[in-house]
Amino acid sequence: MNPSKIFRSDLLTDKNVIVTGGGSGIGRAIAEECLALGARVAIGARKIDRLEQTAEELRAGGGDVYAAPLDIRDPEAVDAWVDGVASHWGGQIDVLVNNAGGQFPSPAIAIRPKGWRAVVETNLNGTWFMSQAVAQKMMSSGSGRIINIVANMWRGFPGMAHTGAARAGVVNLTRTLALEWAKSGILVNAIAPGVIRSSGLDTYPQEIRDSIETEVPKHIPLKRLGTMEDVAWAVAYLAGPCGDYITGETICVDGGQAHWGTVFPI
Ligand SMILES: NC(=O)c1ccc[n+]([C@@H]2O[C@H](COP(=O)([O-])OP(=O)(O)OC[C@H]3O[C@@H](n4cnc5c(N)ncnc54)[C@H](OP(=O)(O)O)[C@@H]3O)[C@@H](O)[C@H]2O)c1
Repeated sequence: MNPSKIFRSDLLTDKNVIVTGGGSGIGRAIAEECLALGARVAIGARKIDRLEQTAEELRAGGGDVYAAPLDIRDPEAVDAWVDGVASHWGGQIDVLVNNAGGQFPSPAIAIRPKGWRAVVETNLNGTWFMSQAVAQKMMSSGSGRIINIVANMWRGFPGMAHTGAARAGVVNLTRTLALEWAKSGILVNAIAPGVIRSSGLDTYPQEIRDSIETEVPKHIPLKRLGTMEDVAWAVAYLAGPCGDYITGETICVDGGQAHWGTVFPI
């Protein structure tokens, strides 16, 4: 396991951290950072082969990794998955990172009901099902952290109406749960990445990927795409003692993009 470039190596020692969508991209980078800081990590996603391969690679680096297939859209499967992780760890879950998600670019007028439902069910409903199932465990121990990965949709999200609506829902949910669950010692925050160079971009058409590499950085105040580590470090910050007095917040990790620029032209 490569040491963290930022944090001391015992920041998350003995913490049990769930990362949904931890088999690829940003989720994998979050899992690696948490492992480098001494945590045990559980990852879940639908594509079993990729999930298992990631788990094997992380274990080969010395990580304590639990991996099992998970579809966050299915509330009964979520409950069973969370029960499985909890019993593997003797009941204790310290951190949930709701990273699993996905969408496809489309003008709003062309999104069909099936596509709309799929994106909202994954990004909004799935985040809620995971949060509720894990919070039930965290409430018995009287502490926990939930960190929701959302997106940069503050000025509307042209070309991504479905995920913009779903992520805005998660930001509001983040505040509500932070307030309702504060008395149970559960801190709930979100991270809004800008455009991050990750496997998630591989699913977009080549034309959009080319524009992301060449044009998009010009419209970001810090003039570069984000890295997966940029997001993973923000997660570690919120998961560790630095985050002890932060709840209900959404942190933008976007090079200033939320404030200026035209990433996806209308
Ligand atoms: N890259 C960016 O610029 C960017 C910007 C803002 C926000 N984000 C968000 O950051 C998160 C990670 O993105 P990424 O770029 O790392 O893309 P990615 O590699 O496609 O990661 C998404 C992960 O979510 C999992 N997933 C999707 N649907 C799921 C479901 N129903 N149940 C369980 N797992 C599911 C996927 O695995 P399976 O397909 O195997 O299930 C995959 O591992 C996503 O929520 C993404 O929308 C990314």
